[in-house]
Amino acid sequence: MADFHRFESEPLCDVVREIVRGFGSDAREVDLVSENLVRANLYGHDSHGIGMLPRYVEAYLEGSLKPNAQPRIRIDQGPMLALDGQTGFGQSIGHAAMAMGIERAREHGTCIMALGNAHHLGRIGEWAEMAVAAGLVSVHFVNVISRPLVAAWGGRDARLGTNPFAIGIPIEGREPFILDLATSVIAQGKARVAYNKGVPLAPGQLLDHEGRSTTNPAHAVVGPLGALLPFGEHKGFGLSLACEILGGALAAGLAVHGPDEGKKRVLNGMLTILIDPARLGDAQGFAEQTLACLDWVTASPPQDGVEAVMLAGEPERRACTERRAHGIPVDGATWSAILAAADKLGVEVDRSTRHVGGLSAEA
Ligand SMILES: NC(=O)c1ccc[n+]([C@@H]2O[C@H](COP(=O)([O-])OP(=O)(O)OC[C@H]3O[C@@H](n4cnc5c(N)ncnc54)[C@H](O)[C@@H]3O)[C@@H](O)[C@H]2O)c1
Repeated sequence: MADFHRFESEPLCDVVREIVRGFGSDAREVDLVSENLVRANLYGHDSHGIGMLPRYVEAYLEGSLKPNAQPRIRIDQGPMLALDGQTGFGQSIGHAAMAMGIERAREHGTCIMALGNAHHLGRIGEWAEMAVAAGLVSVHFVNVISRPLVAAWGGRDARLGTNPFAIGIPIEGREPFILDLATSVIAQGKARVAYNKGVPLAPGQLLDHEGRSTTNPAHAVVGPLGALLPFGEHKGFGLSLACEILGGALAAGLAVHGPDEGKKRVLNGMLTILIDPARLGDAQGFAEQTLACLDWVTASPPQDGVEAVMLAGEPERRACTERRAHGIPVDGATWSAILAAADKLGVEVDRSTRHVGGLSAEA
């Protein structure tokens, strides 16, 4: 069993800031990247948190992740906006792109924002949260240009990325609905987390290199490499392909069509649709109907072993409350990989876990 640390979020974020400074990022980018990564951990998505740093370092060292990039405007026609992310940090490019899209949606009532060529955009729910904080509904179709990881439904090998899809809906007087999912049964990073922890995956998530079902996460991480399965069988496969075509071919001008072998970069294309519900019709009716619907659905009597019916976004908020109180768990293998990545950037990090507010280290 791998060792475990629990870190308080603020000291952990300070260490991440030190590491991100090693890319040469300016102060704004350091904050955006570090806070975004630690927030993913706080929300329970370790797959998209600080454990991504070693991959970012490899992408940077191969020259395919460019610090301090800004989105370049390709098309600017009122509510239609197309941006090139110039392979910059997705956490910074995504933030700038969403800010532009939100401004357009405020002006026109809607915005269709196409973003291509951004390095890893992280947790896509972050962008939906930004939209709902501005009172907007948002829909995001995202493709991934990297080594394919996910099988086509009925196929034996990996042909697609984990192509995330997200929807954000502001709800008057309540927490927003944030649906944010990978179109694979599990996000690839979750296989990496399982591999680092030395635990098997649940059955029905992964194929091995010969297309047979396996629970060994090595087949998603170090090889011989197989393929994750799409969620929801043929339905998830259909949504994944829609993400590839809309987030990739339409928004980014680049859809997966080969192995992308040997490259460490992770590029995301994202088609974002923003809608101001107050400009599309009856804002009060929308709010009332939404609340009535959610009340009806959540009043369903829970099954045995289930506390209550939850809405999308709630598990992340619960994880955040728990992790703020008890710290963020980081397994020993992930922590070692982060420290090794810092070394590659020439950043000296104090090895003592106390330095990052280590609350406990379990053997
Ligand atoms: N940038 C990229 O290239 C990329 C690629 C893939 C995934 N991702 C990110 O990975 C993250 C993890 O994705 P995932 O598919 O593992 O998420 P997940 O399966 O943990 O959750 C998916 C959604 O279901 C909701 N949910 C979870 N349990 C629920 C329950 N019991 N009742 C009701 N709703 C529930 C969550 O709130 C969430 O909206 C996401 O943030 C995604 O954006 C990013």
